[in-house]
Amino acid sequence: MPLPEVDLSALPSEYGAAVKAVRAKVPAALARPAWGIICGSGLSGLAGSLKDKVEIPYEQIPGFPNSTVHGHKSILALGFLEQGDKRVPVVACLGRFHMYEGHSPQDCVFPTRLFRCLGTQAIVVTNAAGGINPNFEVGTIVAMHDHLSLPCLTDKNPLIGHNLDAFGSRFPPLSNAYDIPLRLALFRAANALNLSAKDMQQGTYAHVSGPTYESRAECRFLRSIGGDCVGMSTVPEVIAAHHAGMRVLAISLITNKVVVDDYLDARKALQDQANGGDALGKKTADADTAAAANHEEVLEVGKRRAEDIRKLVETVICQTDLD
Ligand code: HPA
Repeated sequence: MPLPEVDLSALPSEYGAAVKAVRAKVPAALARPAWGIICGSGLSGLAGSLKDKVEIPYEQIPGFPNSTVHGHKSILALGFLEQGDKRVPVVACLGRFHMYEGHSPQDCVFPTRLFRCLGTQAIVVTNAAGGINPNFEVGTIVAMHDHLSLPCLTDKNPLIGHNLDAFGSRFPPLSNAYDIPLRLALFRAANALNLSAKDMQQGTYAHVSGPTYESRAECRFLRSIGGDCVGMSTVPEVIAAHHAGMRVLAISLITNKVVVDDYLDARKALQDQANGGDALGKKTADADTAAAANHEEVLEVGKRRAEDIRKLVETVICQTDLD
C-alpha cells in the first residue's frame, strides 16, 4: 500500500515551499520520486547512475541548512535509476547535515522529511563508519540492522518538540525501524555481485555526535553495549524516515578500525629509558599517531568502495517492488 500524500497545510510552511521549489525544477515524471537516497562521506558517486538527472543546489531550496563539511557536496539530485525495463524515479541528497556542524537534530532531518513530502516511499541512507567489531575490516560493507544512539537517547532526538502529526505519531517504536525485505534484497544484490560474506556483513551502528573520533575507552564502551561500528550520522534520518512511514535501508562502509590498543605503560617506558633506550616510548607514540582515525582516510576508502555500494543500491531499488 503506497503511503498517503502528506497534508502540507498541516506542516510548517517551509515544507510546502521546498516541495514547490523542487517541483518547479523537475519534469512531471520526477515530481514524486519513489525512493530517496542520502549519501554519506565519499559516497555521492551514487548519483553517477542517475539518468536524466536534475541537480538543485541546497541554497535554492527553502528550509535547507548550509552544509559545512569538507568533502561533502550540497546538492539535491533527482533522476532515474534504470535496470532492464525498470526505470525508477529517485531523489538523492549529495551531502548531509550533521549535529557536529551545529545543526539541530530537527534541521538535520529536514531533507528526509522533504523526501516524504515529495512522495518518497522508501529511503536508503549510507554512511562512513569506524569498525568496532573485530571482524569488520576497512572496506567492509555493513547492512545496519539496528542502532544505538547516545545523542538520540538523551536530548538530541529529532522528534523532540511539537509532534508533526502529518508525518506520524508521537511515540513511534524503533524496534522495527530497519526494513527486513529491503535488507534481504541487499544481501541478494551482494550475492549477485559476488561480494563475499567478509565484505558484506550486518551489524548495529553506534551513533555519536562527534566531531571528535572516539577515545579508546569510548570505543571499548561502545563495543560493550553492542555497537559493531560507529559514526556521526544516519540515525536522525532513520528516525525521521521511520516516523513518517518510509521503509528504511541503511548501509555503512567501514573506513577505519577504531583504536582499542593497549595504553603505553608509562612506568615501564620510564624504566626502559633509564636502562639506556627510549625506543618503547617513541615507538608507542608513533603507533598511536598512525592508528588514529582521520577524515582524509575516511574519504579515501569511500572512493574505493563507492562503486560496489552504487551497484548494490541501484540493484536493490530497481529490483524491489514497493507496492
Ligand atoms: N568514528 C566516528 N565516526 C566515523 C568514524 C569513526 O571511527 N569513521 C568514520 N566515521
